[in-house]
Amino acid sequence: MKVTVIGAGTMGRGIAQVFAQAGNDVILTDVYPKALENAAGEILKSLGKLHSKGVIQDSPETVQKRIIFTGDLSQGKNSEIYIEAVLERFEVKSDLYKKLNDLAGDDSIIASNTSSISINALSSVIRKPENFIGLHFFNPVPIMKLVEIIKGERTDPNVVKKSLDIVKQLGKVPVTSNDFPGFISNRILMPLIREAILTLEEGVSTKEDIDQTLKLGMNHPMGPLELADFIGLDVVQDIMKVLYEEFGNSRFMPPITLRNLVNARKLGRKSGEGFYKY
Ligand code: CAA
Repeated sequence: MKVTVIGAGTMGRGIAQVFAQAGNDVILTDVYPKALENAAGEILKSLGKLHSKGVIQDSPETVQKRIIFTGDLSQGKNSEIYIEAVLERFEVKSDLYKKLNDLAGDDSIIASNTSSISINALSSVIRKPENFIGLHFFNPVPIMKLVEIIKGERTDPNVVKKSLDIVKQLGKVPVTSNDFPGFISNRILMPLIREAILTLEEGVSTKEDIDQTLKLGMNHPMGPLELADFIGLDVVQDIMKVLYEEFGNSRFMPPITLRNLVNARKLGRKSGEGFYKY
């Protein structure tokens, strides 16, 4: 199957990698050459780890060769599926979709990896909205088993069925959600992170003990503050803003501490500091 992944950031490169691992021909494209260069290095590193543990049989180089890293989106012509993993901004995504409308065939699936933007809203700029769907992967993509499949009002049931098959072919486990703000995952995760931040703000305990509580008391692999740093505090804030705006409910309101860290560009792991220092 020919697959085009647009956006070579953390999510896009992970998605490209798992499609290549499953034997597909992948085009990974980005407007920034540096992002493609980083993606090639990170994918090879991740494949090396998985190969050394026996998770994948093919050599890292063999899998890597299935991916074409290119700035030229037109190389993705006639793909069976396009997966968009660009910035979480409606205008950025809709500009891209206008280009995909010319590139995609009548049966091509166009999927967004959005974590919070409405699939119905995004589908309004797609030439064939019945072929549009949400495929929400989780970071780190090569490790996390879940893919959330989001059905829009106009998504064809056949496209849902094909997407379920594609996700299973990747060795992942799909869950399906209707197009509600935050779908299943972030509707539940964001209030957890928010409450952890408020617990810190109100002086109930230290960040370490708040995280330890969820790790050792509830068997979460990371505490909520550590996880927020891992996701990126700007990303967490953006998702909370969408949920707050769309539900109009204070249980999703971004806390002041989060706003202050983001404004100070303390964005978590990627910037070297967030709730913790890295
Ligand atoms: N590729 C290959 N292997 C990887 C990898 C990658 N990208 N990332 C981690 N690994 C491997 C490590 O090499 C390590 O292998 P060994 O055990 O053989 O050494 C193993 O995974 C575990 O990694 P670490 O030892 O570094 O650390 P860890 O045990 O804490 O695991 C983790 C790391 C898998 C990230 C784990 O902490 C975890 O599951 N955290 C929660 C992640 C999570 O919740 N993600 C979802 C975020 S929400 C989201 O993505 C969507 C959204 O909309 C916000």
